[in-house]
Amino acid sequence: MTTPVLQSWPVQREFDPKNMPFRRLGPSGLRVPVFSLGGWLTLGGSVVGDPVKEIIKTAFEAGINMFDTAEAYAAGKSEQEIGRVIKELGLRRTDLVISTKLFWGLRKGPNDGGLSRKHIIEGTQEALARLGLDYVDVLFAHRHDPNVSMEEIVRAFNYVIDQGWALYWATSEWSAREIEEAYHVANKLGLVGPIAEQCKHHMFHRDRPEKEYAPLYKKYHIGTTTWSSLAGGLLTGKYNDGIPDESRFATHSDFFKDTVKQLQSPEGQEQIRKVKELTKLAEEELQTTVGVLALAWVAKNPNTSTVILGASKPEQITENLKAIEVIPKLTPEIMDKIEKILSNAPEPLPTYGRPALDKFGRI
Ligand SMILES: NC(=O)c1ccc[n+]([C@@H]2O[C@H](COP(=O)([O-])OP(=O)(O)OC[C@H]3O[C@@H](n4cnc5c(N)ncnc54)[C@H](OP(=O)(O)O)[C@@H]3O)[C@@H](O)[C@H]2O)c1
Repeated sequence: MTTPVLQSWPVQREFDPKNMPFRRLGPSGLRVPVFSLGGWLTLGGSVVGDPVKEIIKTAFEAGINMFDTAEAYAAGKSEQEIGRVIKELGLRRTDLVISTKLFWGLRKGPNDGGLSRKHIIEGTQEALARLGLDYVDVLFAHRHDPNVSMEEIVRAFNYVIDQGWALYWATSEWSAREIEEAYHVANKLGLVGPIAEQCKHHMFHRDRPEKEYAPLYKKYHIGTTTWSSLAGGLLTGKYNDGIPDESRFATHSDFFKDTVKQLQSPEGQEQIRKVKELTKLAEEELQTTVGVLALAWVAKNPNTSTVILGASKPEQITENLKAIEVIPKLTPEIMDKIEKILSNAPEPLPTYGRPALDKFGRI
């Protein structure tokens, strides 16, 4: 038997988790930091070269060892930059949890995207080549593909796992019905199903993660790797008085033009009003910022495995990780106050007068 070569670059830095809590990723044995770091729009996109290194170094030295990317982020450059920096910083591969995602593809050919067996296998190989890694820890289906049978999707992800190119597979923005179908097909075929769902979850986006997926947490113990938990920055309060020049909504104005328009609508203004109220609560009762509160609130959710942070500057990581200290301060009283301000809690599923039980069958 030959020992697989885990890494071909020298280790220069030991991982110190500092005060980072770790959670299992869904039902798997994989432990992930409560806060991880993603590369959408930033790493390899608006941030290239040495600043990427500074951001990843800051994250790693603060206890973040999980990095999320996707084939489509900055058209493959995000994977390239993250892979380059891992080697330049001399990080040990076994210390890291690397996830990437397939679906959107990089080229326009009929087989360059989606979830066919062909794209899952070829897309994985191309992603690994860009990352310069032999495997990723978690491979996500970046969206569901209604044009491919679930059996083909499940078999292809299992093939990739059997080759050792990914250790686990997971979904992103799939409906509960689609995730459930994947479980049933995997079960029927004696194959492994997805372990996590990468979903949008923030104070103004709650229905899917908190209501639609509720039965999945109970039945399959899936975990979430949440994205845009600051609503792209809105929940830091930086957009309360307009769009600052250096901010994401300005630097990616085309992509966010609908978001900016929505902010001017009565619904958007109501969100800003809530951000201001939450700011007051954060400052007066928790001596923290509204952004830190927003991140701690998502992390407190028992179904959240990791909150994927986004950062255009190292200082944002340092600031956002203050949320670790705030999670235990979110007492039932504080959570009630937050709920009153948000007033958008999804209706629980009906139980017709019978008590709702938790995932272990307890009241
Ligand atoms: N699966 C999916 O479909 C999907 C979709 C989107 C994202 N994701 C993943 O989730 C990750 C995070 O998503 P996201 O970047 O949208 O998260 P986010 O936390 O909602 O937004 C991050 C952005 O907010 C601003 N920001 C962060 N901290 C700040 C602070 N302390 N003060 C002021 N501004 C701050 C920065 O933008 P500026 O400084 O430029 O304003 C930063 O890039 C992505 O990198 C990606 O890995 C997945």
